[in-house]
Amino acid sequence: MTQPPRHFLDIAPLSRTDVRAILDEAHRRKGARAGWPKAKLDEDAPLAGHALAMIFQKNSTRTRVSFDIGMRQLGGASIVMSAADMQLGRGETVEDTARVLSRMVDCVMIRANNHQDVVDFAAASAVPVVNGLTDFSHPCQILADLMTIEERLGAVEGKTIAWIGDGNNVCASFVQAAEKLKFRLKIATPAAYPPKSQELAAARGAGADVTASNDARTAAAGADVIVTDTWVSMGDFDKDARMAAFPPFAVNDDVMAAANRDAIFLHCLPAHRGEEVTDAVMDGPRSAVWDEAENRIHAQKAVLLWCLGKI
Ligand code: CP
Ligand code: NVA
Repeated sequence: MTQPPRHFLDIAPLSRTDVRAILDEAHRRKGARAGWPKAKLDEDAPLAGHALAMIFQKNSTRTRVSFDIGMRQLGGASIVMSAADMQLGRGETVEDTARVLSRMVDCVMIRANNHQDVVDFAAASAVPVVNGLTDFSHPCQILADLMTIEERLGAVEGKTIAWIGDGNNVCASFVQAAEKLKFRLKIATPAAYPPKSQELAAARGAGADVTASNDARTAAAGADVIVTDTWVSMGDFDKDARMAAFPPFAVNDDVMAAANRDAIFLHCLPAHRGEEVTDAVMDGPRSAVWDEAENRIHAQKAVLLWCLGKI
C-alpha cells in the first residue's frame, strides 16, 4: 500500500522527534556548505530528479527565493507561479489543481490567503504540500527562527522567547512549537489583537509554558529572545485601527533593555522600520535578522527532505 504524502502544513501535527530531526538536518547541511557559492549542489544532491512547484497568492521575497535556491542546492528543480496567473485565478478548484500538479511535480509549496485552501489542496494532493504562509500560520518561518536561536544561544529548550506585537500567523506557529521544543513563550499584544485562543488552549493542554499579556515590558523581562512582526499583515484591512493600537508594542532599546543581557532580536521580515521596530534595534548588535532570513533556506531544505521521506 502506498503511504499518504507527508504534508508540512503546521508544526502542531509533527512529532517532537520530527521537529528535532528537521532542525538538526538544517544545521548539518548549513555547516557542510559554509562559504560555498549559493547555487552549488550539496554533495549528496538528495533531491536530484525532483521538482517543486510554488504557488503564491500573496507577495513574497524570502519564501520564494529561499525555496527556489534551496531546491537547487538539493539537486532538484523548482517552478514559481502566481495564483492570479494560473487557472486557479479563473476558478479552477484547488482540488483539481492539486490532482494535476500531483502528476507533474513531486512537492508543492503554497502561500495562500485562506488556510483552509491549503488544507483542501493537501487533501486532494498525491504529493507533499508545504504551507508557505497563510492567514493562520507560518511554520517554515519559525523553523528558521528556532534554528537562528540555537546558532546564537545554544539549545532552544528552556529558553524564554518573548513575542511582542500582533497575535498573528507567525505567533500561532510559535505557540505550536513551544510544546514541541520545550521553550517558554511570553506573548504581549494589544487586547484587541490577541493570539489565537484555540492555539493557546491546545498548547497549554499539551503542557506548553505559554503566557499572554498586554504589556511589552512584562513579556520582555527575562527573555532570551525578543521577536516581533509587522502590525499589518497581508490580508489585514483595518490598518488605521492597528496603527492606533500597536505603538506601545514597538521594540526599541527600552524593550531590549528589559530582556536578558545576551538576548537577541528576531523579525521574520519585511520590517517596517520606525513602526514595530526601531532602526537602532534592527541594525544593532543583538539583531539576528539577517541570519534568520538566510536560515529560511537551510530550514526549508530540511522540510523538503522530511516531506520526501529523506529524513
Ligand atoms: N518572512 C517571509 O516569509 O518573507 P516573505 O514574505 O518575503 O516571503
Ligand atoms: N505576518 C506577516 C508575515 C509576513 C512574512 C504577514 O502575514 O503578512
